[in-house]
Parts: sequence; structure tokens; C-alpha cells
Amino acid sequence: MAKRALITGITGQDGSYLAEHLLSLGYQVWGLTRGQANPHKMRVQKLASELSFVDGDLMDQGSLVSAVDRVQPDEVYNLGAISFVAMSWQQAELVTEVNAVGVLRMLEAIRMVSGLTTSRQAADGQIRFYQASSSEMFGKVTESPQNEQTVLHPRSPYGVSKAYGHLMTRNYRESYGMFGVSGILFNHESPRRGPEFVTRKISLAVAQIKLGLQKELRLGNLDAVRDWGFAGDYVRAMRLMLAQDEPVDHVVGTGRVHSVRDAVRIAFECVGLNWEDHVVVDPALVRPAEVELLCADSTRARENLGWEPSIDFPELMQMMVESDLRRAGRERDYAEVLSAGSW
Ligand code: NAP
Ligand code: GDD
Repeated sequence: MAKRALITGITGQDGSYLAEHLLSLGYQVWGLTRGQANPHKMRVQKLASELSFVDGDLMDQGSLVSAVDRVQPDEVYNLGAISFVAMSWQQAELVTEVNAVGVLRMLEAIRMVSGLTTSRQAADGQIRFYQASSSEMFGKVTESPQNEQTVLHPRSPYGVSKAYGHLMTRNYRESYGMFGVSGILFNHESPRRGPEFVTRKISLAVAQIKLGLQKELRLGNLDAVRDWGFAGDYVRAMRLMLAQDEPVDHVVGTGRVHSVRDAVRIAFECVGLNWEDHVVVDPALVRPAEVELLCADSTRARENLGWEPSIDFPELMQMMVESDLRRAGRERDYAEVLSAGSW
């Protein structure tokens, strides 16, 4: 019988790639969507037409119990979050409600629907749970590269909220015997990445500048270093973690690092431009407490899951720039047609 998966965060970058991946493996997939007319829902439906939807919100315990009860999933992937780190200083309480307490609510929904108590522990056939943990939890790193044992020192309300979800998932594993795991994923990007994140902000600007539609790109800290990979590769690791015999947390990243300055240079080179002619450093975009360096030690994921990334960083930036060039070109042509009055 086909496995049933419930994905929160279905309308986000990872939700769409994971849905496509699970559907390609023969899963029946439900995406949790919130709001009465979520504008992102149609976008993901276009990508994965066999996808079903169920209403719910990580802020609303009852809605999660109803969603889990209705779908009766074999696997729950909790990808829903407010994921933009910079925003977490402005709305720390909301970020905590969604990213931290939201995890607890989903764990509780699974516990209630499965009838688990401290003395009635989960057995075979239980619902398996994946939590989207983040390398942002390592924050002010104490060692490099970072692995599953590295001490957590989050530097943002977002990082703190993710540390709570991470530890609570472990606690439900230990308290109720739940098959709950966290994937500690390092930054991963794609043409579907939100425009607020630095790689997509860069690829969008490069396309606009190349087409003469924009002049400059304003950025914050160019010295920050990240381990960037392709989102399509990372969702494979999520499923593999739930397919193991034992629930074990895994770090997922490429082990290769680049600075924001490298990212800008590579992206502008894709269209034959010099980044220094266009980039302006804006101190207002520098964060109150920066994470300077993240680099993954994914030895466990490679050994246990057989996971490997398939795309390197320059290829990823090229993919994103080309996609945004096509999009910007279409939009410009459309605008020209409209202004020529030929419609
Ligand atoms: P994303 O594109 O920002 O998507 C976030 C998703 O969360 C959206 O579908 C959004 O739905 C949903 N969401 C927000 N508030 C919600 C709520 N109250 N209830 C239910 N859903 C809600 O993020 P992503 O890049 O796909 O990342 C997926 C997950 O992995 C996140 O938890 C993120 O923190 C984590 N993560 C990401 C990375 C990365 O580099 N991408 C690395 C490590 C960890 P709406 O359409 O309703 O807003
Ligand atoms: N967004 C943004 N915009 N970042 C900038 C800018 C800018 O104009 N200028 C410099 N940066 C720097 C940030 O200060 C940060 O050091 C780095 O670029 C990456 O920023 P983001 O792309 O916003 O990602 P992030 O590392 O803060 O967080 C992402 O990765 C985490 C995993 O490590 C998000 O996807 C998180 O949800 C995820 O958990």
C-alpha cells in the first residue's frame, strides 16, 4: 500500500521539492495549508498536481490534531516555519510561537492521535516525524566543521526557536518512544528560494541589472561564510532519515564553503559583469548578532544514508541566475507588449 505523508510548509521552497520527490516514489502526499485563501497554494499545486491539501496552522493545536487524524499519515514532515532569520529580531514572539511551540503542537497532535503516554509507548507502525532543524542553531560556532555533537550557541531568536524544536523532538523520542528525528540542514537554495534570502536576492538583482532594469544591489555583511547546497538534494536526505531502522539525527550539508562576496562575484560572472560596479554595502542590512561561519561535517549522513549532494555552488548560482534571467526577460517582454498597446 502507498505510504501517506503529511507535509507542513508545503508552500515553501522545501515543501514543493519534497512533495515532488515523495510523489515520484509513489507516496500519497497531503500538504498543510493555512489561511482562508493562501496565495502560495496554487503555485505548489501547479508543480505537483496529485498533491492533496488539508487545512491547519502551527499556531492552532486543534487544527493539527484534526489534520493528523484526517490524513492518518505514516510520515509527518514539519517544514513549516518563519524561516527568515533577519525577521526574527522584529517578531521574536511570533517566530517562537510558530517555530518552537509549533513543533510541540505537532508532536502533541501525533501523540494524541496515536494514543501515546509515558507508559503506553509507540510501537511498530507508528507515525514517523521529521523536524526541520537548522545549522543556524550552531550560531557562534565552537568548532568547524559542525557535526551532530557540536554545541548549540544560537545567535538569533530564529536560532533559539529552532533549538527548542530540536530538543523537544529528542525529548518526545525519549519520553514516548516516538520515531522522531531532526535533520540539521545547512543553507540550501534553488530557483524557488524566497527573494529575501541572500542567494536569491543576488540572482534576481543580477538578472535585472543585466537587462538594464536595475542599477545597484544593496547587501549587508559580505564576509559571512555559508555552506550552500541545492534544495532538491536536501529533501532526499529528509526521507532517508525516516526510512532508517532507528531514529537518528543527521547533519546535512556539502562541507564546502563560500562567502557572500564569493556568491556575488560568481553570480555577476555568469552574465559577464563585474560585481564591484553594482554592489553597495548597506550597514542597515547587517544583523545585530551575525553567524559568521557555517560548514557541515555530514560524515554520518554520507555513511548512514548514502547521501551525497549532486550540485556544487557555482552550478547552483548559475541555475538560479539563468532561471531569473528567463523570468525577468518574460516580464520585460510582457510589459513592452502592454505598453505598445497591442493587446
Ligand atoms: P520557506 O520557503 O520560508 O517556507 C516556510 C513555510 O512555512 C511556508 O510554506 C509557510 O507557509 C509555512 N508557514 C509559515 N508559518 C506557518 C504557520 N503558522 N503554520 C503552518 N505553516 C506555516 O522555508 P524553506 O526554505 O522551505 O525551509 C523549510 C524548513 O526548513 C523551515 O522550517 C526552515 O526553517 C528550515 N530550514 C531551512 C533551511 C534552508 O536553507 N532553506 C536550512 C535549515 C532549516 P505560508 O505559505 O502559509 O506562509
Ligand atoms: N538575506 C540577506 N540579505 N542576507 C544577507 C544580506 C542581505 O542583503 N547581506 C548579507 N547577508 C548575509 C546574512 O547576514 C547571512 O550571514 C548570510 O548572508 C545568509 O543570509 P540568508 O540567505 O538570509 O540565510 P541565513 O543563513 O540567515 O538563514 C538561512 O539558512 C539557515 C540555515 O543555516 C535560512 O534558510 C534559515 O531558515 C536556515 O535555517
